[in-house]
Amino acid sequence: MKKIGIFTSGGDAPGMNANIRAVVRYALLKGIEVVGIEDGYSGMIEGRFVKLSRAATANIISLGGTILLTSRCKAFHSVGGRAAAADRLKQEGIEGLVACGGDGTFHGAHALWTEHGIPVVGTPGTIDNDLWGTDWTIGYDTAINTAAWAIDRIRDTALSHGRVFIIEVMGRHAGFIAMDVGIACGAEYIAVPETVSNIDLLYKKILEQGKNKRTIIIVGEGDEIGGASVFKTILKEQFDVDSHVTILGHIQRGGSPTVRDRVLATRLGVAAVDALINGKSDIMIGLTNKEISYTKFEETWARRKSLRDDIIFISETL
Ligand code: F6P
Repeated sequence: MKKIGIFTSGGDAPGMNANIRAVVRYALLKGIEVVGIEDGYSGMIEGRFVKLSRAATANIISLGGTILLTSRCKAFHSVGGRAAAADRLKQEGIEGLVACGGDGTFHGAHALWTEHGIPVVGTPGTIDNDLWGTDWTIGYDTAINTAAWAIDRIRDTALSHGRVFIIEVMGRHAGFIAMDVGIACGAEYIAVPETVSNIDLLYKKILEQGKNKRTIIIVGEGDEIGGASVFKTILKEQFDVDSHVTILGHIQRGGSPTVRDRVLATRLGVAAVDALINGKSDIMIGLTNKEISYTKFEETWARRKSLRDDIIFISETL
């Protein structure tokens, strides 16, 4: 293998730059040229390729976002879009790809391999931690620490004013962020898509806190009842409880990656290059029980990583 490409796709996640850096530097060490593909699949279709040197990846390990830019590309959902991208890659002489992103990214990568025979390995880059085949995704640790930082500050004002706060965190269909952050911030109630939310129990928790006492409620955005605003309406209409809503939103996706995310991204980047050199494709590189693991792309989205029972138990009892 003489030339590989790397791209980031889907929602950005802190640590993507550390992943790019590791791929570039390790591949160069192995005598492989690296091309950065801008803007994910959009740049692949348009042929936006940039040669990446060791120097190009200096001073990026601590940066959030992605220097290669990212997008959610509709055109790549079509057979024609993928064929155009495959043609560009072949013209450029790219013999293998590292795709850093979430399940949408891996769907595209799987199609590139099955339809056009272009070898692709993935690294899990998403704050949601929702991919089967890895204990942690790149960006998750930073996101939960950012969310906890913000909620600690909300707690101060909730305590001072004796208010009920409903804080919505990201996670699309997964409750990992909500659960970890809720436990870390001592929330009275945590609503996640994986469990059935119980409004009566939530009201009981509010009563236990006492009138005009601080109550912190964390809602994962994918909860089956709805987001934080829906919880607010229900509490008012059913129990006449006043509450304040804070939606943390994209603050959770930004910022300098934590040490854990930088090291994870670096390990996965090196393993991704090794995997391509060893002829692997159609797989995600993950970290399972501290060791590098390989999972077929299809499995990463077909199987659902579940919340641990002991974590759910803790969240409900403490
Ligand atoms: O997948 C990462 C994530 O931040 C989810 O938690 C969230 O639901 C989604 O992306 C938001 O995507 P966008 O920034 O495209 O609105």
